[in-house]
Amino acid sequence: MANGILKGKKGIIFGALDEKSIAWQVAEKAVAEGAQIVLTNAPVALRFGGIQKLAEKLNAEVIPADATSLEDLENLVTKSMEILDGPMDFMLHSIGMSLNVRKKKPYTDLNYDFMHKTFDISAMSFHRLMQTAYKLDAMNDWGSILALTYIAAQRIFPDYSEMAESKALLESFARSFGYHYAKKKNVRVNTISQSPTLTTAGSGVKGFQEFFDYADKMSPLGNASAEACADYSVMMFSDYTKMVTMQNLYHDGGFSNMGMAPEVLGMEG
Ligand SMILES: NC(=O)c1ccc[n+]([C@@H]2O[C@H](COP(=O)([O-])OP(=O)(O)OC[C@H]3O[C@@H](n4cnc5c(N)ncnc54)[C@H](O)[C@@H]3O)[C@@H](O)[C@H]2O)c1
Repeated sequence: MANGILKGKKGIIFGALDEKSIAWQVAEKAVAEGAQIVLTNAPVALRFGGIQKLAEKLNAEVIPADATSLEDLENLVTKSMEILDGPMDFMLHSIGMSLNVRKKKPYTDLNYDFMHKTFDISAMSFHRLMQTAYKLDAMNDWGSILALTYIAAQRIFPDYSEMAESKALLESFARSFGYHYAKKKNVRVNTISQSPTLTTAGSGVKGFQEFFDYADKMSPLGNASAEACADYSVMMFSDYTKMVTMQNLYHDGGFSNMGMAPEVLGMEG
């Protein structure tokens, strides 16, 4: 389906861990649409080796960066501009991790050191990345910055735990930084609120498969796949969406506007 809508554009993609990762799909589509990219992930994630396979396939360089380290991000952005021979046109933040969820702590008994770390990795990293790019003047005029989020920022999904607050913070950073980046360089900043997706981060949430099936029935178009999310992301990086900024964009097959679905109650047909 490639149409060359990212021809001549350059960008950084965070968060490709394995083939299931949403960022992996975005990286493949962005390159298919003509973009040149740099891939990055936390040093520990590079040890799994998946990203190297992707890098070879896409002829991209991999620069390790822990999204909680300002120094790592400065190094990443500076080196990316050298590799790509100039500033970026797009960046994808596809990073999420909750320590309390991983340690199976109930929401009414959270550990606050873990919570700090969760917010740092999953939300503050987005501000840190944008501030780094802003200060280093690393984005071209009319560039596009995206982060991935989930509707638990607005509605209650009990097992999503502190990731709900992480996503609320992430979405707020998109709006606030979106203002400043629009004023400075006409750069747009948005979040895509994606359906439940079977990835490493997604399946860390308790009862994920049951919840995935529920959301699939609740959404008139069904759950949006990682591949479909990649199509949407690529369009958001393209010149077709230049005036869209400071938005939380639902990419969920209609889930967010549903009240009741007969399919969920077994009443269909
Ligand atoms: N899977 C879902 O159901 C779903 C739904 C909506 C939104 N999202 C969001 O999509 C994004 C991507 O997740 P995914 O589902 O593709 O899972 P994933 O596990 O493939 O990706 C998460 C990535 O975050 C990276 N990461 C973790 N800590 C890091 C750090 N300190 N520095 C840099 N990178 C770090 C991991 O290495 C991994 O590549 C996340 O923001 C997630 O919350 C996922």
